[in-house]
Amino acid sequence: MTNQVRIVEVGPRDGLQNEKMNVPTGVKIELINRLTACGHSAIEVTSFVSPKWVPQLSDAAEVFSGFTPKSGVRYPVLVPNLVGYERARAAGATEVAVFTAASEAFSEKNTNATIAQTLERFQPIFERAKADKIAVRGYVSCVLGCPYQGEIAIDDVARIARTLHLMGCYEVSLGDTIGVGTPNKARALMLAVAQVMPASAIAGHFHDTYGQALANVMASLEVGVRVFDSSIAGLGGCPYAKGATGNLATEDLVYLVNGMGMDCGLELGELAQVGAWISHKLGRENQSRAGRAQFAKL
Ligand code: HMG
Ligand code: MG
Repeated sequence: MTNQVRIVEVGPRDGLQNEKMNVPTGVKIELINRLTACGHSAIEVTSFVSPKWVPQLSDAAEVFSGFTPKSGVRYPVLVPNLVGYERARAAGATEVAVFTAASEAFSEKNTNATIAQTLERFQPIFERAKADKIAVRGYVSCVLGCPYQGEIAIDDVARIARTLHLMGCYEVSLGDTIGVGTPNKARALMLAVAQVMPASAIAGHFHDTYGQALANVMASLEVGVRVFDSSIAGLGGCPYAKGATGNLATEDLVYLVNGMGMDCGLELGELAQVGAWISHKLGRENQSRAGRAQFAKL
């Protein structure tokens, strides 16, 4: 199994979509530039969803045209439907991410659609993306539990992940949206999904609400998953999942990966500075323990 771990930084999107304060567009742009300078290979920069649903990211087009892209870095944006895809393309996006859920209740709350309806909405996106040579990433939410429905069947997650992969997602990110998963469950989930699609196309997206995200990463690494989403300073949450806190902090993930002798192309030092900077800008405590520890030494 490869020692390479790929980290997808989702702070500017998953992190900032949930901020109560109005984050200035300039701060969002500076965050993306600073994350790029840290050496990230993929940064999810914003989302072209309905501004009525997520007003925090209504400046998506300005953000997208404002940052300085680095050659070789992927900058995906979230899109829920063809309108979002067209807005993303008009802004210059070259990679999009579609999102659905393993829970019908969450799908309705988050997108006002059943799971089947979300997949139908994606069909024209895949067609257009193929013609436009645009890469499409996919998300399945609530893979280890749902705030409305409770337990989620592993088979449902596997079926939906496989469907997204077959439809054209080069990678499917499995989201523990409310961070309730524990390692045995995460391992079983990853093993089940790896039965129906290549393990190399699976990513783990663990929110850290119950402090289990790193443990769930370890369980996923053990069974061959090598791509993880994380968020600088542990920013994040989902406006449609009450009480869910941020993603696994990128700094904590990088400390784990490097400490295990694996390679993710990132160093804690610079990330810790960015984590401290954005936490200060947002007026919130840095949620990354590794980030705080490192920053205290500077
Ligand atoms: P709807 O209200 O059912 O849709 O929302 P609609 O088609 O009736 O549209 C309503 C209005 O929005 C219309 O405008 C549309 O034109 C407009 P009006 O006629 O009222 O003036 N509209 C749009 N405007 C801009 N961009 C668009 C767009 N689409 C419609 N793309 C919809 C359906 C899916 C649009 C809505 O529910 C939505 O935007 N939901 C997004 C919610 C969201 O962003 N949640 C957070 C991201 S998911 C997440 O965080 C989980 C993840 O991190 C993984 C994990 O942790 O599990 C990915
Ligand atoms: Mg998320």
